[in-house]
Amino acid sequence: MNIIKCKDIDDYAKTAAQIVTDRINSKPDIVLGLPTGSTPVPLYKELSSLYNQGKVDFSRVTTYNLDEYIGLDRSSEQSYYNFMHTNLFKHINVKAENINIPNNDPNGLEMECLEYETAIKESGGIDLQVLGIGHNGHIGFNEPGTPFDSTTHIIELSEETIAANARFFDTPAMVPKKAISMGIRTIMLSKEILLLAYGKDKAEILKRALTGDITTDVPASVLKLHPNLTIVVDEEASSLL
Ligand code: GLP
Repeated sequence: MNIIKCKDIDDYAKTAAQIVTDRINSKPDIVLGLPTGSTPVPLYKELSSLYNQGKVDFSRVTTYNLDEYIGLDRSSEQSYYNFMHTNLFKHINVKAENINIPNNDPNGLEMECLEYETAIKESGGIDLQVLGIGHNGHIGFNEPGTPFDSTTHIIELSEETIAANARFFDTPAMVPKKAISMGIRTIMLSKEILLLAYGKDKAEILKRALTGDITTDVPASVLKLHPNLTIVVDEEASSLL
């Protein structure tokens, strides 16, 4: 486990983006696993800027997003489909056919879970999985209690996660209660993991995840078992490490 402590948010964005860019430049047909949330936004801005400067080329990159809400149309402003296009995909040259985001069509969810797993395997597996961390230690939408051997599945979001996500919606009632997410096993099978966190509200959960017991009560604690884990954090998030 390699922890990189950055002095501020700018340093955090540049450090994370440099790692992703280096991996793409050494393997142009890399398979990336990507998160949503506020955590990767500075990374996505920096990657868009590096692309504009000609320092990275996404034309052969394949992406798999970690998760998607159930109960929101893809065209909805708060869907992760929309989030990814707004924050990253429309700014870079990734091919539309190489972008994978779990399909949340309510009629085919069970099949989508199986097909998402198969597609990842057929792509050769995820080379670099970028992750954020929820306040309760969730990764993707794998809430506390999710088995470590889980694959892509449908999950009921915890009250804490629904409350945390309410800031993005007009009313709390509009926040989706379910999601489709890569499982913990799916994430752990990635060849490399880059865990990102910034801000003081992530300090406590990072401490629990990285220095406490490995337990399904804190899903991110499983990451300590991964042989190739890098953590990029700012000073505030790393203040208790
Ligand atoms: C959501 C996402 C996670 C993300 C988490 C943290 O629940 N499904 O992948 O890591 O939020 O969000 P934020 O980065 O906004 O703190």
